[in-house]
Amino acid sequence: MSEALANLLNEKRQFLPPAELAADANVTSSAYAEAADDRLAFWARQAAQLTWSKPWDQVLDWSRPPFAKWFVGGQLNVAYNCLDRHVAAGRGDKVAIHWEGEPGDSRTITYAELHQMTCRAANALTGLGVTAGDRVAVYLPMIPEAAVAMLACARIGATHSVVFGGFSADALTNRIQDASAKVVITADGGYRRGKPSALKPTVDEAVANCPSVEHVLVVRRTGEDVSWSDRDHWWHEAVEQASAEHTAQPFDAEHPLFILYTSGTTARPKGILHTSGGYLTQVAYTSHAVFDLKPESDVYWCTADIGWVTGHSYIVYGPLANGVTQVMYEGTPDTPHKGRFWEIVDRYRVTILYTAPTLIRTMMKWGEEIPAGHDLSSLRLLGSVGEPINPEAWMWYRQHVGRGELPIVDTWWQTETGSMMISPLPGVTAAKPGSAMTALPGVVADVVDDQGRSVPDGGGGYLVLREPWPSMLRTIWGDDNRFIETYWSRFGAGAGGDAEAPWIYFAGDGAKKDDDGHIWLLGRVDDVMLVSGHNISTTEVESALVSHPSVAEAAVVGATDPTTGQAIVAFAIPRGSTDTSGEAGEQLIAELRSHVAKTLGPIAKPRQIMLVPELPKTRSGKIMRRLLRDVAENRSLGDVTTLQDSSVMELIASGISGSKSDED
Ligand code: WT7
Repeated sequence: MSEALANLLNEKRQFLPPAELAADANVTSSAYAEAADDRLAFWARQAAQLTWSKPWDQVLDWSRPPFAKWFVGGQLNVAYNCLDRHVAAGRGDKVAIHWEGEPGDSRTITYAELHQMTCRAANALTGLGVTAGDRVAVYLPMIPEAAVAMLACARIGATHSVVFGGFSADALTNRIQDASAKVVITADGGYRRGKPSALKPTVDEAVANCPSVEHVLVVRRTGEDVSWSDRDHWWHEAVEQASAEHTAQPFDAEHPLFILYTSGTTARPKGILHTSGGYLTQVAYTSHAVFDLKPESDVYWCTADIGWVTGHSYIVYGPLANGVTQVMYEGTPDTPHKGRFWEIVDRYRVTILYTAPTLIRTMMKWGEEIPAGHDLSSLRLLGSVGEPINPEAWMWYRQHVGRGELPIVDTWWQTETGSMMISPLPGVTAAKPGSAMTALPGVVADVVDDQGRSVPDGGGGYLVLREPWPSMLRTIWGDDNRFIETYWSRFGAGAGGDAEAPWIYFAGDGAKKDDDGHIWLLGRVDDVMLVSGHNISTTEVESALVSHPSVAEAAVVGATDPTTGQAIVAFAIPRGSTDTSGEAGEQLIAELRSHVAKTLGPIAKPRQIMLVPELPKTRSGKIMRRLLRDVAENRSLGDVTTLQDSSVMELIASGISGSKSDED
């Protein structure tokens, strides 16, 4: 029998944590032993860092798997924990958010001010008839009001459903309808790529088909004209005139906090439901442990959008629960110039930067002179999330952003997991470029074969989570069966068979354990290529391509092949100065093919490589391999509506140079 997933890439580099960081780290190696010793007691100690109005009676109720209850009987208010308790402790004057708009305008908001804004918004929502348990849709640009809207919902026990501001009226309609949202919070628009980008017309179009919506609250950001109806209210009238006095009521630990629809590139979106006590416990703990947050001195910046789970957990809830100062930026990284991010790092003296591999690879493509032109000496820790980071992108990040010395935390998690699950600890782990390394304390991850058996070190297979965790999704909104089906029916008790077997969470990602037992993520299981009986990960072939000095970014797919079943077809974006015309292009392609064969073995040699100027990505930056498969198999393109930039596919079709089939 062939292995579940081949292990081809052999990366030997490893970097110790800087001594200074290790000496003063929030979390040391003892956390692993403490958690292993008594996992529930470990999580109870983390939960106790929060302020509870009523203590819990039971840490975990797992009597009705896969439906978990954490901190059963406990009560707390999530917004109180993010705001009031810091103000009460005398830290009201501390900056919560340094906000920078794309046009260059800025706002500085202290914890006391953020608290006041949230209280006013909570009163305004209550005034519109929103009560605990109601759903509120949030469709906003990256402005402070986005965080305020979420916190105000949390404060009154309403469940927010944030919809990314780049989504269409249809996508917004579906999400509002699925959750029967009562109120929508939006803005006239936001700034993107140097100009105002309207949001209100999209809401008008969506709400026309959403009878559940009673009110629309509109923040004025761009000042552009908007059409108006009876259900519309200006935020600056409703909220700014509401009282700043508001006493937060406690809610049950299992009270729904938010629904977030997964970015799913194919199927109907799933409304992932998260609740209060367990979620806040784990986002607060992982922020503290993995970012080593020092509220007295750190300036933290997560470049994600609030419309993704990263923005929920690591802009709003985790950092604010820790009382840290953070930067929030409205716009794109190349407006008005390609050094914008580095200018922001310098301006606010950012110490911790959390971003995505797609951004790092874009920066690689633009060239290292750009970060080199800015003072990045304030940085002390770098993070990555969203996709596997190729070892070469990791090295570039460390070298050109991290001065060749900063630790990088490659954090694996999902919308469904709510918080980070697998990641180095920056003061403990000797990190390997490209590996998320080990499950965090209190998290039990494994890699298993088709039969659900743990693979030995050196083996590949499917990533699973063997024990429930506090910030786990509780269900798919309105669809318990789909919840069980999607995540719990592949292995363990939920797969049928042995009812006494444990329940095992299937993450949908391929992974391997290296010879030291460290975990490497290998991409979505659906993307794995079956070449001559070997399951080959897209990530490994992409990483091999990116390890060539002429390649900035790569995507590979399996295309039907008469002899090998599937053959590897690669799309590669050359680095800035590479000559790809005519013969030079042909030569580069030949060189890349043998480079992959040399790095991973002949089985992984691409049949075909196309040099392209861009890759199709979702709006959260993930490569849409489905569309590339259409190109590789000469099919007409499938649904392109989730593409970040719809012109990309034309660009690829017209820009393909030296496409070539195997002559071996
Ligand atoms: C999927 C989850 C996690 C918040 C943002 C994305 C991939 C995420 C990593 C990583 C390798 C990663 C996985 C995962 N992914 N982080 N560090 N290394 N892959 O949330 O949209 O729910 O996507 O993103 O495939 O399953 P999401």
